[in-house]
Amino acid sequence: MFCEDIHSALDSLISRYDEAVVVRDESLQPSVVSRQLSEGSCLWLKGGEAQKKIETVERVWDFLFEKGVTRRGLLVAIGGGVLTDIAGFAASTYKRGIDWVAVPTTLLAMVDASTGGKTGINYRGLKNSIGAFYPPVETLIWPGWLETLPAREMLSGFGEMLKMGLIEPSAVSRQPSDRLWEALMRYDLDTMPIESLTPLIKACVEAKEQIVAADPKEEGLRKVLNFGHTFGHAIEAVSHQPSAHGYAVVYGIIAELYLSVVRLGCPKEPLQQLTRLMTEYYGRPQCKCSDRSRLIELMRCDKKNERAGEINCTLLRDIGEPVINEVITEPEAGEALDYLFSL
Ligand SMILES: NC(=O)c1ccc[n+]([C@@H]2O[C@H](COP(=O)([O-])OP(=O)(O)OC[C@H]3O[C@@H](n4cnc5c(N)ncnc54)[C@H](O)[C@@H]3O)[C@@H](O)[C@H]2O)c1
Repeated sequence: MFCEDIHSALDSLISRYDEAVVVRDESLQPSVVSRQLSEGSCLWLKGGEAQKKIETVERVWDFLFEKGVTRRGLLVAIGGGVLTDIAGFAASTYKRGIDWVAVPTTLLAMVDASTGGKTGINYRGLKNSIGAFYPPVETLIWPGWLETLPAREMLSGFGEMLKMGLIEPSAVSRQPSDRLWEALMRYDLDTMPIESLTPLIKACVEAKEQIVAADPKEEGLRKVLNFGHTFGHAIEAVSHQPSAHGYAVVYGIIAELYLSVVRLGCPKEPLQQLTRLMTEYYGRPQCKCSDRSRLIELMRCDKKNERAGEINCTLLRDIGEPVINEVITEPEAGEALDYLFSL
């Protein structure tokens, strides 16, 4: 739910519960978020992928126990995708599950991580390998948080928006100029105004909700959301200086769009448009040709694979026409990586 007044929205939600505690991202201003919460009911956590581990979940569990939260209590998670994924997972397991609310404060968390009910942490070096489908009772989106978000994190979130623009289910029934993809191409990435970003955030959330409603447990259709992520996750894992998640998604989309053109005859224009955006705003991936075999090995271990050892991707026939479960060969994967590294 979008809200103009985050304080009132939180107040009204919290008033329905016996008790509420909040976990908040340390990067946020320490202002009061709800008149019904005291500073003592707030746990501050660091953001960043390195925090997405079992020890951080333990800190949240400990805090819930210390505050005596019962099964009728509420956990409010205010932060980026890392914090909402951790808090949602802690909520799913504490006393066999308590209600939680997601208050995303990064663009990426608003358009992606806070919708769809996936929660979890990284384990044994594998991203999101432990987790649960456990949707929040409410997601409160207030774009005002973005005022303090660094440009790099804005671009990261925009990377997931680009993915959504390419797979948007309603794109096929729209004139090209009315599609989310075209609106994203018109957005001014030099100044990144929040006002004109808000309708685009709404469009992304709606598109994701539509996909998730049709397949909540990722048994089929929901896999379209993995577009760009088979290559993207592998690139993220080997990057010498890991960049924000959405950067790796952009590199992954370029590799998978390349394969979409070669295998499925997808028009070249989105690939050319995205390549331009990458060179102008995202820069090149932090890995190189010599990482090729490690990247392919990681793609073979991806938890999204239907069969062990294969490389499974979502590709695109055209904008709005994703095709799931495309099994690609090692030479094809290598060719897509060569293309990406040649840019
Ligand atoms: N559950 C899902 O369906 C889903 C979907 C996509 C991504 N994710 C997960 O989301 C995570 C990435 O999320 P993220 O990009 O938000 O990372 P993040 O949570 O680490 O936030 C990025 C940085 O921004 C800071 N920050 C947060 N809000 C801020 C604000 N308003 N102003 C200034 N700084 C702020 C954080 O402290 C952090 O340093 C990944 O772990 C990814 O796996 C989950």
